[in-house]
Amino acid sequence: MNWKLKALLMVFFDTIPAGEKMYRILQKRFGNLNDDPAGRIMVQEKMASWLVDQEFSIAGSVFLEVGTGHKPVVPVCFALMGAKAVYTVDLHRRLDDALMRGMLNKFAAAKDQLIKSWTRYTSEDILQERFGLLLRYKDRPEQFFNHIGIQYLAPADAGSLNMPDASIDCHLSNTVLEHIGAKDIRSIMQEASRLLRKGGMAMHFIDLSDHFQHQDPGITPLNFLRYSERAWHLLAGNQFAYANRLRPPDYFDIFDSLGFEIARRETKTYDADPGFDLPDDSPFRSYADHDFRTTELNVLLIRRG
Ligand SMILES: C[S@@+](CC[C@H](N)C(=O)[O-])C[C@H]1O[C@@H](n2cnc3c(N)ncnc32)[C@H](O)[C@@H]1O
Repeated sequence: MNWKLKALLMVFFDTIPAGEKMYRILQKRFGNLNDDPAGRIMVQEKMASWLVDQEFSIAGSVFLEVGTGHKPVVPVCFALMGAKAVYTVDLHRRLDDALMRGMLNKFAAAKDQLIKSWTRYTSEDILQERFGLLLRYKDRPEQFFNHIGIQYLAPADAGSLNMPDASIDCHLSNTVLEHIGAKDIRSIMQEASRLLRKGGMAMHFIDLSDHFQHQDPGITPLNFLRYSERAWHLLAGNQFAYANRLRPPDYFDIFDSLGFEIARRETKTYDADPGFDLPDDSPFRSYADHDFRTTELNVLLIRRG
């Protein structure tokens, strides 16, 4: 779909009553909102491997995910791998029973294959026990969450949580931070610093590409950087499309100023022609070429001190 048409639809649904509900129905019917966990399972496997490389034990640890969204694949995977507890926090209650049942049934159908591949991250005994719970409760998502130790905190702000200091081992998110303004990211990371035990890990996988490009191959993943702040706000300053357009150094400044040390980082860049010339007064001119071209930033941070 042409991205400008999609942007206009988002602006429209953002302004009408019950627009959010209607937009989600369209997303289910024509968009990419479905119950298939496969893509997110691959992301979580990468997260698990990064933790295990740091000799972090997934089994027995307490996780907190920021930004559950519609499909809680990452928290389900960590719970199946033996986490002691997984808190998943969202500003909005978006989980839908039918979509969750579909997702849990797909996990159940892939049980043998997942157990085989996940013995790299946790013991087979734990996996067998946790998948046993999945098989028992796959059609009752709420009970599955209760029995496996997932707590869905929504509506709740990850920048201000009613949880004790040093009560979690790992703070994480996937494709969330790029949708949050810099000031709120700072509050979320400050709260992470309070909640994490000393030596705990924060892992954030951030999609720095223009999300409109995901459905419109007619633009490049850097297209959104061509617009002034004002023009971008008119096009995408709504609840469905908001993207902060921060570049890697902006995130590093926040992490660094709060005392997080980078244990691992990975970036992907778009190296072909961006498809536009930056205006002379563009704020994106001040970034190094690699930072301007970054489309993906994955970081693993350690809470020191
Ligand atoms: C793109 S969605 C999440 C995608 C999901 N993590 C996944 O992997 O499919 C971003 C979510 O972050 C949530 N969010 C934004 N700001 C937040 C905050 N301060 N605290 C908690 N959740 C927040 C939004 O409500 C939204 O549901």
